[in-house]
Amino acid sequence: MVPRAHSSLKSLLVLSAGLSGHLITGVRGSVTTAASTATTAYDYVIVGAGVGGIIAADRLSEAGKKVLLLERGGPSTGETGGHYNAPWAMGTNLTKFDIPGLFESLFSDPDPWYWCQDVTVFAGCLLGGGATLNGGLYWYPTDADFSVENGWPSGWQDHAQYTNAVIARLPSTDHPSTDGQRYLEQTFGVMQQLLEPQGYRQLTINDEPNSKDHVYGHSAFDFIDGKRAGPVATYLQTAKVRPNFTYKDFVYVSSVVRNGSQITGVRTNDTSLGSGGVVSLTPNGRVILSSGSYGTSRILFQSGIGPSDMLALVKNNVEAAVHLPLQSQWINLPVGMNVSDNPSINLVFTHPSVDSYDNWADVWTDPRPADAAQYLKNQSGVFASASPRVNFWRAYAGSDGITRFMQGTVRPGAGSVDTTNPYNASQVFTITAYLSQGVTSRGRLGVNGSLTGMPLVNPWFQDPVDKAVLLEGIKDIVSGISAVPNLTLITPDNHTTIDAYVDTYDPASMDSNHWVGAAKIGTDPTTAVVNTNAKVFGTNNLFVIDASIIPALPMGNPQGMIMSVAEQATAKILALVGGP
Ligand SMILES: Cc1cc2nc3c(=O)[nH]c(=O)nc-3n(C[C@H](O)[C@H](O)[C@H](O)COP(=O)(O)OP(=O)(O)OC[C@H]3O[C@@H](n4cnc5c(N)ncnc54)[C@H](O)[C@@H]3O)c2cc1C
Ligand SMILES: *[C@@H]1O[C@H](CO)[C@@H](O)[C@H](O)[C@H]1NC(C)=O
Ligand SMILES: *[C@@H]1O[C@H](CO)[C@@H](O)[C@H](O)[C@H]1NC(C)=O
Ligand SMILES: *[C@@H]1O[C@H](CO)[C@@H](O)[C@H](O)[C@H]1NC(C)=O
Ligand SMILES: *[C@@H]1O[C@H](CO)[C@@H](O)[C@H](O)[C@H]1NC(C)=O
Ligand SMILES: *[C@@H]1O[C@H](CO)[C@@H](O)[C@H](O)[C@H]1NC(C)=O
Ligand SMILES: *[C@@H]1O[C@H](CO)[C@@H](O)[C@H](O)[C@H]1NC(C)=O
Ligand SMILES: *[C@@H]1O[C@H](CO)[C@@H](O)[C@H](O)[C@H]1NC(C)=O
Ligand SMILES: *[C@@H]1O[C@H](CO)[C@@H](O)[C@H](O)[C@H]1NC(C)=O
Ligand SMILES: *[C@@H]1O[C@H](CO)[C@@H](O)[C@H](O)[C@H]1NC(C)=O
Ligand SMILES: *[C@@H]1O[C@H](CO)[C@@H](O)[C@H](O)[C@H]1NC(C)=O
Repeated sequence: MVPRAHSSLKSLLVLSAGLSGHLITGVRGSVTTAASTATTAYDYVIVGAGVGGIIAADRLSEAGKKVLLLERGGPSTGETGGHYNAPWAMGTNLTKFDIPGLFESLFSDPDPWYWCQDVTVFAGCLLGGGATLNGGLYWYPTDADFSVENGWPSGWQDHAQYTNAVIARLPSTDHPSTDGQRYLEQTFGVMQQLLEPQGYRQLTINDEPNSKDHVYGHSAFDFIDGKRAGPVATYLQTAKVRPNFTYKDFVYVSSVVRNGSQITGVRTNDTSLGSGGVVSLTPNGRVILSSGSYGTSRILFQSGIGPSDMLALVKNNVEAAVHLPLQSQWINLPVGMNVSDNPSINLVFTHPSVDSYDNWADVWTDPRPADAAQYLKNQSGVFASASPRVNFWRAYAGSDGITRFMQGTVRPGAGSVDTTNPYNASQVFTITAYLSQGVTSRGRLGVNGSLTGMPLVNPWFQDPVDKAVLLEGIKDIVSGISAVPNLTLITPDNHTTIDAYVDTYDPASMDSNHWVGAAKIGTDPTTAVVNTNAKVFGTNNLFVIDASIIPALPMGNPQGMIMSVAEQATAKILALVGGP
């Protein structure tokens, strides 16, 4: 499938050039032994320094455990030693990943080295994972997100203490500029005129997380001091100063080493970490996979854990087969099954008040000089925010009796415009309409014979009720246009009906990069991969803490929920007897 941008940008980009390069399949050839006396053993080895992994590593090291955090990529933000700077920010510590206003340039970079080259959809392969290159939209999870109705096992509903722990470390802001002002706000006024007549009320979204019906507000972000923050800027910094926390980057993990249900080590491509690259565990030591939906699934497959068709692909892969456990040790679990991602559809408009910001085209090489200077001076102005400006939600009752929510994300600019009518490109903005909590469609993710991660069955609109509800929501948005003077819908334009537009929308471009459910939490190993303590069924000491365990989509873009899940899962793992 064609990889596409985060739905709030649906994009100019063609990533295929970057993807066609090299494949990484881990250690080649050599047969290794797990035992190592010369190198250090760890209580907890965490694989992947993304949203889930960093939080787990901080909490486990805080609890006095000896923790190793492994990351396949390298430095990202300036604080972490990153140096990938725009020409206008040379000589500063303000990298592409620090400056929120460079978000859209992630999708037009001629050398996008930061995306995982062995996954066909967008995933971050550098310190911070997705949180280093996502849109920064940050929503505190709702009570309904963790409900039994939304797929969570009992015991997970009382999320408040964990969500509050996240907020204490990483508060959201809906005015990220250091001067407290909001910039490039024209779309807010237009949306106000569009939504108020439809009964929407304005609120500070994260002040009332549970209010998600007929509400709108300023977009909220996990930015601090006008810069991208996330777990890298907060949790990782506290972990780093502890003597029993070790972080190693540029380390690729291919599998866990196991003897039946017991994990005895972690297989890496770094021989300094142990004999043959295998990291050892202390007695009762544990392994936590936090490599993201695609990365965690691939490690499980290579460890002999997953559906038999995926394990057969590993067995047929010359490099990977060497380390695959004997078939008698395979653990059949539904890894990659029944995943979800928000279906999203873009509507493109013009309004004479709107500044499209030249569609963010020149922000990397040739920014508006005053905006660049203002940002460099004190991290204020347009560049202190990513592109979104407004978010809104509305609840819909589906014909199947299930309530689904529509989320809108509004930004100046547009990834693509499709109209034969003339229009003014300087006045363009986009509303991305996503279906969020309540989505019933499911797909499947996995690998192919080269172990490239990819969707195997697209999850969007498998259930026609999902499509009907999003169509209804889009029609409601559009129904208000005539009430807003000079607001013009240009994609679809007046030669295309909304029904036809939605019917013919390229499914691959509905990808929101919000994959959840590849190693679902639950009580039944025929439908779940991890138990209520986030432990992989059939193992004694293997856990998953990342987006994979989330059984169903939350109300908003998922990183806030993943953080809360990481706090709660880590607490449950620490409380689980038999550990180090
Ligand atoms: C383009 C884009 C835009 C997005 N926008 C938003 C947004 O605005 N708001 C929001 O809430 N969410 C957004 N998301 C989604 C969000 O970023 C992800 O849901 C989140 O990052 C997932 O967290 P995770 O812990 O599961 O994995 P990740 O954050 O992806 O972290 C996984 C980490 O594991 C590492 N890794 C993988 N495999 C291995 C291996 N074999 N060995 C060692 N290390 C490995 C990776 O390098 C990475 O650092 C966006 C995602 C993308 C891609
Ligand atoms: C971890 O560090 C803390 C102090 O930060 C210390 O009390 C504890 O003994 C250490 N644990 C290990 C296993 O090294
Ligand atoms: C960049 O950060 C490093 C490490 O934090 C610091 O030593 C250096 O002075 C900073 N450079 C600038 C130009 O701010
Ligand atoms: C930053 O600089 C801008 C432009 O000079 C100024 O308007 C703003 O007040 C400054 N903000 C802070 C927090 O100093
Ligand atoms: C291990 O893999 C990582 C990620 O691909 C790579 O950057 C690193 O150079 C590799 N290390 C070795 C020793 O090959
Ligand atoms: C694997 O575990 C079994 C007990 O479950 C033990 O008898 C055997 O020695 C172990 N094998 C290895 C190679 O450690
Ligand atoms: C297009 O919009 C810009 C900004 O609103 C305006 O300055 C310009 O005059 C418009 N061009 C035309 C041809 O209307
Ligand atoms: C796996 O998919 C990748 C990306 O599409 C492709 O380059 C590769 O050839 C595929 N491998 C096999 C064995 O099909
Ligand atoms: C709408 O556009 C026309 C010209 O195209 C202009 O005269 C009028 O003032 C505009 N109305 C508003 C409310 O912007
Ligand atoms: C569509 O809109 C354009 C102006 O944007 C107008 O010229 C044209 O007549 C309209 N066509 C239809 C079929 O309404
Ligand atoms: C996937 O979802 C379908 C429909 O909800 C269900 O019948 C099936 O058991 C699920 N499969 C797995 C492996 O979870």
